[in-house]
Amino acid sequence: MDENHETIKLQAAQKIIGGKFGLPVDFSGSGEIPGFLKGDPQLLFNARSGIKLIVDSLRPRKIWLPTYLCPTILGAVGPHNPAIRYFPVDDHLKIKAYQFLKDLEAGDLLIFIDYFGFPTDHELISGLHNKGVILLQDCCQNLFFDPENSQADFCLYSPRKFVGIPDGGMLHVRPGTNFELPSLIPPPVEILYDLFRAIILRRDFDLRGGDRKWHDLFHSAESRHFAGHHAMSELTSMLLHKAFDYDKIMETRRDNFRLLARELQHIAIYNELPDDVVPLGFPIRIKERDRVQQFLFSRNIYPPVHWRITDYVPKRYRDSHQVSSEILTLPCDQRYSEADMVLMVEAVIDGLNA
Ligand SMILES: Cc1ncc(COP(=O)(O)O)c(C=O)c1O
Repeated sequence: MDENHETIKLQAAQKIIGGKFGLPVDFSGSGEIPGFLKGDPQLLFNARSGIKLIVDSLRPRKIWLPTYLCPTILGAVGPHNPAIRYFPVDDHLKIKAYQFLKDLEAGDLLIFIDYFGFPTDHELISGLHNKGVILLQDCCQNLFFDPENSQADFCLYSPRKFVGIPDGGMLHVRPGTNFELPSLIPPPVEILYDLFRAIILRRDFDLRGGDRKWHDLFHSAESRHFAGHHAMSELTSMLLHKAFDYDKIMETRRDNFRLLARELQHIAIYNELPDDVVPLGFPIRIKERDRVQQFLFSRNIYPPVHWRITDYVPKRYRDSHQVSSEILTLPCDQRYSEADMVLMVEAVIDGLNA
């Protein structure tokens, strides 16, 4: 290993990889405004509120959900809501069989998720409109999908999964859709205040190290998030419009993803990166997931699990439960360089062999 590599390794070793975002270090907003900020979206405190507002307002007879999903969606719909029906997702996170389509009726709500930034098969969606099915495209993991290109009635975003802002969810409603938004109330101050402190403390930590109080604050604030009628904070709206260089963010995420895909092909969920995809992270599947995750924690790498569905989704959807027990999302976002990715690859390989 040459000296240069050693130096890079040392610098990178002092930071952690993963975890929630801090406020940006340089406020270098520039470039073109991305699609999710254009138009006139509803600005909400979080994305789950968008789901609740649609369900409350349109009262669909059935709510169709994919078997692989973020449990917060169930929280928004009501986990025991008798209207819930599932459609199966396979172990490549693709909709598995289209038989369920014949059971869809006018006025049903169908929520589909663009996993990790990879868009859902358009074949599924085309045709459902004519049937009168209400379509919600969940772009919470696909921030850079332009809602103008959607065939859905609603596109939902959760930008704090991609950049350092305290709160926020955005709901784009397709013009002409029959939907009246109730008036919103200001964001919940106690939660917002903790989230605000957390993103500042995480920024300080990234710059200077120190304790990890930000972690507890994030955790406590996130556990108090609920789906309701609260609006996005003005601070978040301002940051989203001013603080970020989205072109750079997209480019870095794609570069880092490509490096990981080259090195970790054998455990990757997605090997190819289509031109229009900006990834949330780099999901892998491994047998001893929990052990390897702990190993990575010990190297200061914090890959999350998207998602733990054991307590939520019926057991008969085996493919989804299998994915949930093996999946891990390696961070590849704009905070990290090629050197960080190289270190993470080494750590993953060490973890698999440990
Ligand atoms: C696919 C998906 N939909 C919805 C949500 C809810 O987003 P929020 O936390 O902004 O309410 C999440 C959150 O993780 C998600 O991953």
